[in-house]
Amino acid sequence: MNGFMNTHIPEKSKVAISFPGRSDFRVVPPNEAYVSVFDRSFHFGDSVYEVVRTYDGVLFGMKEHTDRLRNSMKLGLWAHLPDFSLIERMIKDTCRQYFSEFGRKDLYVRVTVSRGIGDTNIDPTTCGQPYAVVIAKEIPPAPDWHATKGVEFATVQRRRNSHEALPPSMKSGNYLNNVLAIVEAKHNGGSDAVMVNAHGFVTEGTTNNLFIVKNGVVWTPSMDAGILEGITRAMILNLCRQHKIPVEERLFTIQDVFSCEELFLSSTTREIVPITKLDGQAIGNAKPGPVTVSLRKLLREHIASEVKKQPSLFEMV
Ligand SMILES: Cc1ncc(COP(=O)(O)O)c(C=O)c1O
Repeated sequence: MNGFMNTHIPEKSKVAISFPGRSDFRVVPPNEAYVSVFDRSFHFGDSVYEVVRTYDGVLFGMKEHTDRLRNSMKLGLWAHLPDFSLIERMIKDTCRQYFSEFGRKDLYVRVTVSRGIGDTNIDPTTCGQPYAVVIAKEIPPAPDWHATKGVEFATVQRRRNSHEALPPSMKSGNYLNNVLAIVEAKHNGGSDAVMVNAHGFVTEGTTNNLFIVKNGVVWTPSMDAGILEGITRAMILNLCRQHKIPVEERLFTIQDVFSCEELFLSSTTREIVPITKLDGQAIGNAKPGPVTVSLRKLLREHIASEVKKQPSLFEMV
């Protein structure tokens, strides 16, 4: 029994929590994984995070995720940085413990680093050292129809934060902008939102980057639209260039999306998923288009070949 009955804590998960200012951590069962009520992440969303995933026991894109985590702290003007080697040990240990208890699954690994625990004072000089929390749980396989039919998105009134207000390229624990957008999108009949910025340019989904195909050219919002620099987005841009698929990072509007041939999302956990309807209207012929299908295949092949080159945590369980 614990005080969190009737919540949706994923039972089959493993959690590691570090001690502020120390180089050790504890792994605890999910229903005993508590942080302090004086934590700044709880009060102000004053944390940064990453979601890494495993394929066949291999932590994919660790360097890119660690670099982005570090960059988020820079954008968040952190005076103290955590021990990154400790975070890496926590991630590996949490995954290994998951595999040995629950079996060899593909894992979603969420790493949150809070700026610290302190008084309920907004000034971060009043808190102590940062500390990390790692949660590992299974990524359930996506239903087949996501790839074969595509998903539906909705437009929303809510605008993506401006870079000047809260940089979207900082992956902070403050996701309220995105929370409000997904609630509105669901109300409008979509599973997620196409968010535009204050100038009306398309930015991203609430937890994914967006691409369209327009007159045979792949377009994705450029960084100046105000987006997270997605790690999957970068892989797709590289694949387009390698395979001579015309691609542009640029600004475009929601009208461009309604009149495009294909629309798709990208993210670490979902790779590429076609979006075939927006606000109930067909995108192209309302089926996953040829460019989306071939990029999805290229991305999966690229990931599979990279995974083969790296050591698997399965061997160390
Ligand atoms: C706002 C936002 N945009 C884009 C992405 C996709 O980024 P990545 O491909 O690195 O997972 C995410 C992922 O969480 C996100 O939260």
